Amino acid sequence: MDSSFPTRSRLVLFLFSLFVLSGYLPGYHVLETQNIPHAQEMQAKCRTISNLPGPPGSFLKREVSDRFEVGTNSTLILNTTMLIGQGNDTHILHGDLYLDKGLVKAIGSLSHLALVNGSVLNLTVINANEAWVTPGLVDIHTHLGLLGTPFLTGAFDANPKHGPVLPWLRNIDGFNTHDDGFQLAIAGGVTSVQVLSGSMNNIGGQSVIVKLRRTSEGSSLSMVVEPPYNLNGSFEGSTRWRHLQQACGQTPSQYGNNRPDAIWALRSAYAEAQRILIAQEQYCSDVEAGLWDSLGEFPENLQFEMLVDVLRSKVKVTSQCQTIEDIDALVRLTNEYKFPVASLQHASEAWLIPAVLNRTWGGSPSVALFATNHRYNFGSYRGSEFAPRVLSDAGIPVVMKSAHPVVNSRYLLQEAQQAHYYGLPPYLALASITSVPAMAVGLDHRIGSLHEGADADVVMWDSNPLQPGATPKYVWIDGALQIPLPRRTDREQVEVGVGKEGEEWTRFPGVPDWEKERKQAIEWEGLPPLTGRKQSGRTIFLNVRDVWLGVDGTVQQVVHPGSDLVNIAVENGRITCVGDSVACPSTTFDAAEHVDLNGGSVSPGLMTFGSQLGLEEIRSEPSTGDGSPFDAFTDRVPAILHDPGAVVKAADTLRFGTRNALTAYRSGVTYGTACLMKSAFGGRSNVIAGVSATFRTGASHAMERGAIIQSDVALHVAIHRPDPFSKKSDVSFQGVVPLVIDVGNADIMATLLILKAEVENRLGSRMRMVFSGAAEAHILAKEISGANVGVILDAKPTVGVWDDHRTLPGPPLTNDTTLVILIREGVKVGLRSREAQFVRNIGFDLVSAMLASNGRIGKAEAYALVSTNLRELLGVIMDDQTGDLVAYTGGSLFETSSKVAAVISARKGQVDIFTVT
Ligand SMILES: *[C@@H]1O[C@H](CO)[C@@H](O)[C@H](O)[C@H]1NC(C)=O
Ligand SMILES: *[C@@H]1O[C@H](CO)[C@@H](O)[C@H](O)[C@H]1NC(C)=O
Ligand SMILES: *[C@@H]1O[C@H](CO)[C@@H](O)[C@H](O)[C@H]1NC(C)=O
Ligand SMILES: *[C@@H]1O[C@H](CO)[C@@H](O)[C@H](O)[C@H]1NC(C)=O
Ligand SMILES: *[C@@H]1O[C@H](CO)[C@@H](O)[C@H](O)[C@H]1NC(C)=O
Ligand SMILES: *[C@@H]1O[C@H](CO)[C@@H](O)[C@H](O)[C@H]1NC(C)=O
Ligand SMILES: *[C@@H]1O[C@H](CO)[C@@H](O)[C@H](O)[C@H]1NC(C)=O
Repeated sequence: MDSSFPTRSRLVLFLFSLFVLSGYLPGYHVLETQNIPHAQEMQAKCRTISNLPGPPGSFLKREVSDRFEVGTNSTLILNTTMLIGQGNDTHILHGDLYLDKGLVKAIGSLSHLALVNGSVLNLTVINANEAWVTPGLVDIHTHLGLLGTPFLTGAFDANPKHGPVLPWLRNIDGFNTHDDGFQLAIAGGVTSVQVLSGSMNNIGGQSVIVKLRRTSEGSSLSMVVEPPYNLNGSFEGSTRWRHLQQACGQTPSQYGNNRPDAIWALRSAYAEAQRILIAQEQYCSDVEAGLWDSLGEFPENLQFEMLVDVLRSKVKVTSQCQTIEDIDALVRLTNEYKFPVASLQHASEAWLIPAVLNRTWGGSPSVALFATNHRYNFGSYRGSEFAPRVLSDAGIPVVMKSAHPVVNSRYLLQEAQQAHYYGLPPYLALASITSVPAMAVGLDHRIGSLHEGADADVVMWDSNPLQPGATPKYVWIDGALQIPLPRRTDREQVEVGVGKEGEEWTRFPGVPDWEKERKQAIEWEGLPPLTGRKQSGRTIFLNVRDVWLGVDGTVQQVVHPGSDLVNIAVENGRITCVGDSVACPSTTFDAAEHVDLNGGSVSPGLMTFGSQLGLEEIRSEPSTGDGSPFDAFTDRVPAILHDPGAVVKAADTLRFGTRNALTAYRSGVTYGTACLMKSAFGGRSNVIAGVSATFRTGASHAMERGAIIQSDVALHVAIHRPDPFSKKSDVSFQGVVPLVIDVGNADIMATLLILKAEVENRLGSRMRMVFSGAAEAHILAKEISGANVGVILDAKPTVGVWDDHRTLPGPPLTNDTTLVILIREGVKVGLRSREAQFVRNIGFDLVSAMLASNGRIGKAEAYALVSTNLRELLGVIMDDQTGDLVAYTGGSLFETSSKVAAVISARKGQVDIFTVT
């Protein structure tokens, strides 16, 4: 051993003398520090600098919430079915809930409170009649308040532009308190959200958790939960969690950073922070040792102090890392610098490497996922609908999130419903949008679960929250009523939950068994084969409960549930018999393949329109699609083409066998109509989108029998006010031909209707016009109907740009939806999906649209919206006799218990069977 190395006895002696000098001789000590400016302050700082954040032990015994608004009534909710619990220990309790002073004051059997105090205090008593009550939902990933609804350049404070590493920026400094998105999110039961600034920076700044209600103070700060920034930024004796967002991988590419660059940006920032940390620790040990003579200023750097706190484990870091290499690199970095990561965002490939997640310093982060929003970029290509289940099976906490406005935060619940549909157990699905995200942001002592002393953020639902279309009847935030909208009078009450009186609505919905598909997805590392087994001989479907067929251009139910189960025999893709085991015996065909539908159904294949399905594989990868379409409105057509209009045809550029098309096919959407309209973020890029084509989603190439249904469908143009994020100037629309017009704004629709009348007058002929998008169409529904113009609405109504901002959101905000009003006025309506990867969710969307109509849209009408109506509006001519039929096991398109077992195609003369063996 090196002789200069202190032996243990020398070390003990040294420490002893330090102890004697600094502590045992108090007079000497005080004498010294008295002469040092800020000495006591420094001693206090050094004593507490490493304290971990968190509420004091007495937190749950507080009498009044720091967020309580004076004048808020207390509320007693009687007879609930209540979701309570912490973390994954989530279960239900039947009982009453008492909210007072912004807190959950009591849970249990509390009806006596109503009797004794009800008439005296300002107590609102609500009888829940066993309705489901949950904590307010927590959305761990949104851009609310930074990227406002509607999108406006003046309210765009996301993705700061001044460098890849900006740990000093505070999102609160740009947080807009008037975002239309808040009320929509509350209408979906969301009460708290994390506000992130986007993933274009490696360190994008300090995020905050806000509650979405309007505060009486009205400031940005007053919306923040436990703000670490204000004067009162600490609890008694302890501090509050701070929040930081990071990103690695391909998204922070605005600075030309590739993956290694991104990790280097993080590593060099943490190296700097570590230098400061070591200097501070040295400083504090000098303070402790009383070595005042050599002490200068406390080593600090305002730009890096946040990262120093990360290294002290005082920050809930959220890090967006999509692929295996991204996650692996981040995990190594956490071990290199020893800091924990609270959550991973968009971690599409995390499900493939749970053991790597577990190696994160300080334990595995929670993994925040979309249910079905995959394949939008390279990093999400191997994302899977089975990921939530696979991760939770591996003991990793799973969070479902919206990344609003990617998915509108209003539909956060639907992310959990879909995760449940694809295998996440019901309580974990609910925990994934309540207690688990609350824990991941360090606020589970007050949000995300119902316990005495928690914040009074509560939602009462019109059904079991995992039932599709579940809608809040009541929402409270900090005990203050948000839904129904308090400013309404009784007469203006919005109806919620019509048609959900049956007991079945209170139960968790049945879901299919996906075990085989899940195993296959793991085995193929996210890219399982999607084509079915082709059966061109005989197939017999057993135990069919429900049969719908196309009849005279409509969809009609020919076998009703309630009658006996039937068999359906199919030969070369054509039905040869439908009936009981006498009329259509399963033994007729010995050589046949038997598919047990288990009380399922057979119904016509659906059509999709509105996305790039069939035109590209990965949205952000130009080489997998067609790039930007030529637009004769803004580009000059080369003379050599002899085609001044340069109308492009989708039929020339169709791509078959894309994963989104096959996934749509396996979800019962057997036809797609596509045009070359590229939608930019917040607007549309091209004016003339050319001629659309209709194709079979399950075909493998254009020359396969039946692959192209119609190559010239409709002419598509887009007429909008300028895209708020594009530098291009506005383009005015002049010529008019029969066409499908992408339009959102009611004033533009009015102009088009006037123009249409003029043209028809002058030419003496009628033109077929369809509005697509048409969010504000309800404003002139009568006029649209009178002009015989059809409308194709978004399947999930949301507001993006200003042109759409007057759309009707439906219950619990308005009685009516744009869809309901158009149907009432006799307009022919279809529904579209804007993103190819969401086409598979059409069943959820249809059920939601039906339920939001409060019983005014039935199943046959809903079917028509995505089949016969859409065909008619687009001008697709199809023969119902040779149309595709979809066989569902375990229920119909309208039930979550079902999944598609096969597609029967008379045109192709075969059956595609999807059951995994
Ligand atoms: C619930 O969490 C505990 C500890 O956090 C863990 O041991 C247990 O496996 C989890 N259970 C489930 C079903 O995830
Ligand atoms: C209701 O009254 C009882 C008895 O008067 C009292 O003990 C209790 O604290 C009161 N409850 C509330 C919520 O004020
Ligand atoms: C009840 O509410 C009214 C109006 O907000 C207020 O003036 C009154 O003081 C409240 N009464 C009690 C007992 O809190
Ligand atoms: C508060 O409670 C009182 C007494 O029950 C009631 O008259 C009043 O309408 C309630 N206020 C609100 C805003 O619910
Ligand atoms: C709770 O509500 C259910 C359903 O409306 C009702 O049957 C039951 O009697 C109620 N229980 C109490 C204690 O009020
Ligand atoms: C990850 O860690 C959790 C919690 O310690 C444990 O339950 C789980 O088995 C681990 N999973 C893997 C794949 O190592
Ligand atoms: C909503 O519909 C219900 C039932 O038809 C009606 O009583 C109520 O007045 C309507 N509310 C509004 C705001 O139109």
